[in-house]
Amino acid sequence: MRTIAVMNQKGGVGKTTTSVNLAAGLADMGRRVCVIDLDPQGHASLHLGVEAFGDATTVYDVFAGRKTLVSARRMVGSNLWVVPSNLDLAATELELVDAKNREVVLRQAIQQMTANDPFDYIIMDCPPSLGVLTVNALTAATEVFIPLQPHFFALQGLSKLFQTTALVARRLNRDLKVTGVALCLYESGTRLAADVTDDLISFLDQSDANSPWANCKIFDVRIRRNIKLAEAPSFGQSIFKYAGKCPGAQDYAALAREVEAMPAAAKLPRLETSQDLSPQTITMDAPATAPAPSVAEDVRRAA
Ligand SMILES: Nc1ncnc2c1ncn2[C@@H]1O[C@H](COP(=O)(O)OP(=O)(O)OP(=O)(O)O)[C@@H](O)[C@H]1O
Ligand SMILES: [Mg+2]
Repeated sequence: MRTIAVMNQKGGVGKTTTSVNLAAGLADMGRRVCVIDLDPQGHASLHLGVEAFGDATTVYDVFAGRKTLVSARRMVGSNLWVVPSNLDLAATELELVDAKNREVVLRQAIQQMTANDPFDYIIMDCPPSLGVLTVNALTAATEVFIPLQPHFFALQGLSKLFQTTALVARRLNRDLKVTGVALCLYESGTRLAADVTDDLISFLDQSDANSPWANCKIFDVRIRRNIKLAEAPSFGQSIFKYAGKCPGAQDYAALAREVEAMPAAAKLPRLETSQDLSPQTITMDAPATAPAPSVAEDVRRAA
């Protein structure tokens, strides 16, 4: 099973579009896929045709400890499920502040769901922030994919994002690897897109061999800007259902094939660290009188 966090704290770069259409592409290839919507905006849910009203069970109930992922997930296509979210999830950041082991709630829920019923892929659509929801995704994930819109400020945000994954990898999840960058909303033929891509390649080439992104690749496919990709969410359909032959569908089908062909992250070298990675370590780090520091807080401070 591959557990992938689709993450970038920058907004509007293609996280949800990539989570949903990659998941749908993999499901079309016969893989069993579950999307977990970790954004209170609920965009991945809506994109897959699920609007979680009123009493509907959502991922918020899972974080609150009231429901399991199995009871929250909905089947939205052949081989494809989504665990929906809605605005309620915004409360989780506050409600988990004092909770013990708050960074591992999702990991435990996924372990429970998949113990006897594994998926080929769990794909988590992260919100555009580095709070407790994103930290939960990174703690549960074995892989991180970063959608990136190639423009001038893209790389600036990337180093902050890498710091976050390094922090979570050191303290909570030694199996975490940033394995892929997907260039989204790509304007073929522009100088800027080519320049940013070159900068990204040299940034990754110079990375420390013991960093969580040491084996990160830039996916060969460029996800071109395509209006059909922007239209599909309002119909509650993946790009393959909405316009299966458009350039957007071709690009996401190519991405799904590339993802399938990647070497399993489990075979990549593990992060070497002498630290004990149990969540208790974080609690024990704290002075006796102070509340336990959370990784999310550390991330904010480091930023
Ligand atoms: N390749 C593309 N071509 C055209 N429109 C796109 C493409 N990718 C994404 N979009 C559109 O751009 C907007 C932002 O994309 P998306 O919602 O996937 O980004 P996001 O990173 O999830 O945003 P947020 O940070 O708000 O969660 C959406 O309206 C989406 O439909
Ligand atoms: Mg989104």
